[in-house]
Amino acid sequence: MSEFVYMNGKYTEKENAVIPVMTHGFLYGTSVFEGIRAYYNSEENQMYAFRLEEHFERFLRSAKIMRIELAKSVDELCEITKELLKKNEYKTDVYIRPTAYKSNESVRTNMVGSTDGLIIFSVPLGETLDTTKGLNVCVSNWRRTSDNAIPPKAKIGGAYANTALVATDAKLAGFDEAITLSEAGEVMEGSTMNLFLVIDDVLVTTSSNCGILEGITRNTIIELAKNRGLKVEERRIQRSELYFAREAFFCGTSAQINIITSIDNRLVGDGKFGKIATMLQKDYFDTVKGKIPQYRKWCRKVYD
Ligand SMILES: Cc1ncc(COP(=O)(O)O)c(C=O)c1O
Repeated sequence: MSEFVYMNGKYTEKENAVIPVMTHGFLYGTSVFEGIRAYYNSEENQMYAFRLEEHFERFLRSAKIMRIELAKSVDELCEITKELLKKNEYKTDVYIRPTAYKSNESVRTNMVGSTDGLIIFSVPLGETLDTTKGLNVCVSNWRRTSDNAIPPKAKIGGAYANTALVATDAKLAGFDEAITLSEAGEVMEGSTMNLFLVIDDVLVTTSSNCGILEGITRNTIIELAKNRGLKVEERRIQRSELYFAREAFFCGTSAQINIITSIDNRLVGDGKFGKIATMLQKDYFDTVKGKIPQYRKWCRKVYD
């Protein structure tokens, strides 16, 4: 059976969800998107969409920056997504990709008088990075886009050409992933993940106003860590701190929690999984599956 896709007001089969070649969003990356996961809990025969509202809140903020008007509320977007997942009758973990885009056909770059479209598709998705294996990462020689070029706070389609360069060149150089720096040389994040370090028993992550995407997984980890009694610091991070951190990990919706065991060919700590990262990784997986009552508030039931 072909999967359904939501496209501009209708649920249609994936093969029929196509855009014209001259679509502005396709030609110029004038689109915004979200990456959301829904987890299947087999014991309850239930699917839980993780922090769905927060994803759509960020989606609407990104859309505002790109002058995309969807005329849909967060609640409406959540309902459309729930309906889509129900139609696709999943019994597995899935990834949901809403995209709002400039849908007019034009070779002019300016967006004056443009029209807006909305597509939401979903695909079964397991791990995109092996969460049981330590990652060997490098510092990318590509810089993260700045707030005054393409704001990293928004998930803007065109900005992910930067991400594609970061991730691809890291792979081709033999690393699993990369850490980006700002033009000023401060530590930002991974290609599509935020970064946490453990320095002197403190969990350290880049402040949300330093030029990163403020990840929903990042905010989840901060709350899980504080509830475990850990001290968390959101601050500027210098490159040299990467090399003496005792533990390091990436987090993001798609990648989930990935423990980093080496950075620029230097071991992180003793090169093994650290205690704090391992504990938070487990807490995270239990949380997203709806297994921890305290965090059920973040899990939205899909099936009635
Ligand atoms: C650049 C970037 N940083 C961080 C993240 C992690 O964000 P989240 O946890 O909301 O998925 C993502 C993924 O959306 C991303 O694209």
